[in-house]
Amino acid sequence: MISPIFNQIIKLSATSIINSHIQEMEKLVSSWCKNKSLPESYIFPPETRPGNLVVPTCSTIPVIDLSKAEGQNRTHIVQQILKAGQEYGFFQVVNHGVPESLMNESMDVFKEFFEMPWEDKAMLYSEDPKNSCRLSTSSVNYAREKIHHWRDNLRHPCHPLQDCIKHWPQKPIRYREVVATYTIEAKKLGLRILELVSEGLGLESRYFGDKLSESEILSINHYPPCPDPSLTLGIAKHCDPNLLTLLHQGDVSGLQVFNNGEWIGVEPLHNAFVVNIGNQLQIISNNKLKSVEHRVVTNSRVTRTSAAFFIGPSEDSIIEPEKSLVDDAPFYKAFEFKDFLLHYFPNLEDNEVVMGRFKSQA
Ligand code: OGA
Ligand code: NI
Repeated sequence: MISPIFNQIIKLSATSIINSHIQEMEKLVSSWCKNKSLPESYIFPPETRPGNLVVPTCSTIPVIDLSKAEGQNRTHIVQQILKAGQEYGFFQVVNHGVPESLMNESMDVFKEFFEMPWEDKAMLYSEDPKNSCRLSTSSVNYAREKIHHWRDNLRHPCHPLQDCIKHWPQKPIRYREVVATYTIEAKKLGLRILELVSEGLGLESRYFGDKLSESEILSINHYPPCPDPSLTLGIAKHCDPNLLTLLHQGDVSGLQVFNNGEWIGVEPLHNAFVVNIGNQLQIISNNKLKSVEHRVVTNSRVTRTSAAFFIGPSEDSIIEPEKSLVDDAPFYKAFEFKDFLLHYFPNLEDNEVVMGRFKSQA
């Protein structure tokens, strides 16, 4: 039996951990934003703010029906994916096999997490990017960045599941069960898409199936209503550093993709995933696929919740352009993925700088 004194000590130390988090947690946008005007530190310079919020929402980003990939239309679907990956770096998939009930239940549990009182979230707040499950705000560069982003974020790895799951939120009670099922399904879908990509590139279908897709990170974004969406951003422009991202953007718009010199909105489609090509897929495909800059705008009416599932290489993977895809010279040199990440995070808003470091002539 645990002695009452020992019990008391446990309680006291838990309380002091929570207390030490209270002050830090006040940085979360959701903790202070109600009925406040937009603070100076969230106002982007004129050239990067969204300004005119009416952007064309796009029926141009392809919507691909994955149910057709298993029949005689497979080659056609493969071509659609490749073309979308070359032209936009983005596409949406429907009839993708992840049950609608699971998509809805996961979105509900993500929303419930952020709606919980702060005491239930305090243990997870951390400013250390190495923490295995962390609640934070703005970007990884909070302490260094000039302008903060209008978002809170919960992020954790998902593989190997039995090691990771014990660090995930304990509340809402069904979080672990629902999210575990969700991430297993999302990984399966990601691998299916990567098989189609491989076929399109003329690689064996399991090409990306092993170490190149070993890492799975779930990143849940919470964007509260914003007093002035024209001046700030939920996430500033960036490319994803991984291989492939599957985004569940719910039914509130906000994601914009840079295309042909303008920002276009990605229309929320019920029960669809937005898929985008990460930096590593651009590099391995030797620029046959493009990793494209995107950003998130806020709105003044409703909270937006989105969940990005990042599939990426293990940190010790060696990344380089696949030889069979190199015509003259490779566009990039070989590197270890962990070195890419080290260079990515301090420079994440400038894709030229991120990729420039790994170009073969650099
Ligand atoms: C991201 C991202 C888009 C969104 O998390 O990298 O681009 O719509 N998210 O939240
Ligand atoms: Ni992104």
